[in-house]
Amino acid sequence: MPAKGKIEWISGPAVKASGMASAKMYEVTQVGEEKLVGEVIKLTGDIAFVQVYESTSGLRPGEPVVGTGQPLSTTLGPGMIGTIYDGLQRPLDVIAKKAGAFITRGATADSIPFDRAWDFVPTVKKGDDLEGGSVIGTVQETPLIEHRILVPPTVPKIKVKDVVGAGKYKISETVVVAEDKAGKKYDLMLHHKWPVRTPRPIRERLDPEIPLMTGQRVLDSFFPMAKGGTGAIPGAFGTGKTVTLHSVAKWADAKVVFHIGCGERGNEMTEVLVEFPELIDPQSGRPLMERTILIANVSNMPVAAREASIYTGVTMAEYYRDMGYDTVLVADSTSRWAEALREISGRLEEMPAEEGYPSYLASRLAEFYERAGRADILGSPVRTGSITLIGAVSPAGGDFTEPVTSQTIRFVRTFWSLDARLAYSRHYPSINWMSSYSGYVESVGKWWKERVDSEWASLRAEAYGILQREDALKEIVRLLGPEALPDEEKLILDVARMIQIGFLQQNAYDDTDAYCSPQKQFKMMKMFVQFHQEALKSLRNGTPLSKIRGMQVVAPMLRSKFAIKNEELDKLDGLVKQMSDEFASISAAPEAKAA
Ligand SMILES: Nc1ncnc2c1ncn2[C@@H]1O[C@H](COP(=O)(O)OP(=O)(O)O)[C@@H](O)[C@H]1O
Ligand SMILES: [Mg+2]
Repeated sequence: MPAKGKIEWISGPAVKASGMASAKMYEVTQVGEEKLVGEVIKLTGDIAFVQVYESTSGLRPGEPVVGTGQPLSTTLGPGMIGTIYDGLQRPLDVIAKKAGAFITRGATADSIPFDRAWDFVPTVKKGDDLEGGSVIGTVQETPLIEHRILVPPTVPKIKVKDVVGAGKYKISETVVVAEDKAGKKYDLMLHHKWPVRTPRPIRERLDPEIPLMTGQRVLDSFFPMAKGGTGAIPGAFGTGKTVTLHSVAKWADAKVVFHIGCGERGNEMTEVLVEFPELIDPQSGRPLMERTILIANVSNMPVAAREASIYTGVTMAEYYRDMGYDTVLVADSTSRWAEALREISGRLEEMPAEEGYPSYLASRLAEFYERAGRADILGSPVRTGSITLIGAVSPAGGDFTEPVTSQTIRFVRTFWSLDARLAYSRHYPSINWMSSYSGYVESVGKWWKERVDSEWASLRAEAYGILQREDALKEIVRLLGPEALPDEEKLILDVARMIQIGFLQQNAYDDTDAYCSPQKQFKMMKMFVQFHQEALKSLRNGTPLSKIRGMQVVAPMLRSKFAIKNEELDKLDGLVKQMSDEFASISAAPEAKAA
């Protein structure tokens, strides 16, 4: 029997209800006469604490609270791609049409259209054995996404009794009838539901050994992300979190992109809502929205929806992973999510931990990032898929010791640390190469070695070594000035600067520079490392540093990121040849010997 209680008190988005002994954790409830959507988030005896996903103004003690027996769930099926949702998977445009620009209470909307018919092509036949996760057919959801219709993961081994022919079907029409050993019948449709707070099961986790290529040099070459990996991008306001996440969303070699926005400024979400639908997918030339799902937490929505939004998003991402796709989910920013958690916890008068955040902040972050991964998927046919989770973190004043940043760092394996000083000096992306970190350098090394070049790992280490040496020398330079250094160390400063300007800096708004292919990244990195090697040799042979500094080739090397297109790698080879020739000529010049 669903619980039937009554409201004791209301505090913002939180409601305390008595008479709820039979309620379950995370059960969806209807709150008040208006049946506002709520979710049980705490149970003690017959008292339930419910977070309400709509404005609670006007709600009064004594009004009913009724359980539905169901957990908060997503509806999964064709029709999701291209949609802009709120945190409860309600399409914003449908809601807006119903309720005007502001979401009013009690507005409900189907997550995906139930009245639209899809061209379904079955891939199973009578007598086939299936299990949870198996593919039963396909629907072309958008020109870019073939939607694979899945048996819900909880279904046991079943045998197909009947299949419809290829044709047009709505998402709640039965397309396959199957039976388990005990003779129980299963009607399979184009959609199923899944609770947002329960990870969808997989067969087996796989190693994160395939890089998620983003086309961003500082990321791919120095702090790589893996498919199925986790990452955080912390930074003060204005350091470039949003721009970096947009670059990842646009360029990453993932099939489906999820963007969860919790705007920092009032207009930031509006920017996303206007910008994203206009973006063109660079791979296909088609609208990026044909493989994107947005979740927008606009500021006039109740905070509880923001709390739920990351679970809604990751559940949808798991579903596309289960089709056998690589998905990437970016959350901008998880700090705003944590603030929603803090506000609700405060309303429940829970004992606060650090800076008012609840003590379970850490476990919630861990649970979220644990849903990332590359996996063998349940059911047939055999397939793999992945979810990469990347969260921006926006600590006030850029203080990385605050709870959300410091807890997040514990649970992610890639850490792209944004640096306000770099941003001020317009070094973009302002990712600090000394304080950033990737735990995937070794695991993705094999991919680079096999697909790009066997020298990748050693060249990366050599290039990074130059940056590290510069960092160590900076202190001496600060105290004594650069003239105090021997020429070989001055050369390190020069080459490090070349790498910073010519390689690490990347303009997200330049047509050529916005995306740098793995091959171009490798050749560029090699060019700078080779410059250092040849310069060092030349220096040791007696060429004065001033001559090396005056080399013609330096300017075109620094320009190569936007002057040479990804398809023009032979031009990079030409530049390397020019460099070697110039080294030969300055080393051979007679005054070099005299010096
Ligand atoms: N890769 C980049 N290329 C060019 N400009 C950038 C880049 N990253 C950031 N910027 C600049 O910095 C500004 C602030 O970036 P934004 O991502 O909005 O910061 P945050 O989200 O951290 O507050 C952008 O409007 C843009 O002018
Ligand atoms: Mg931002």
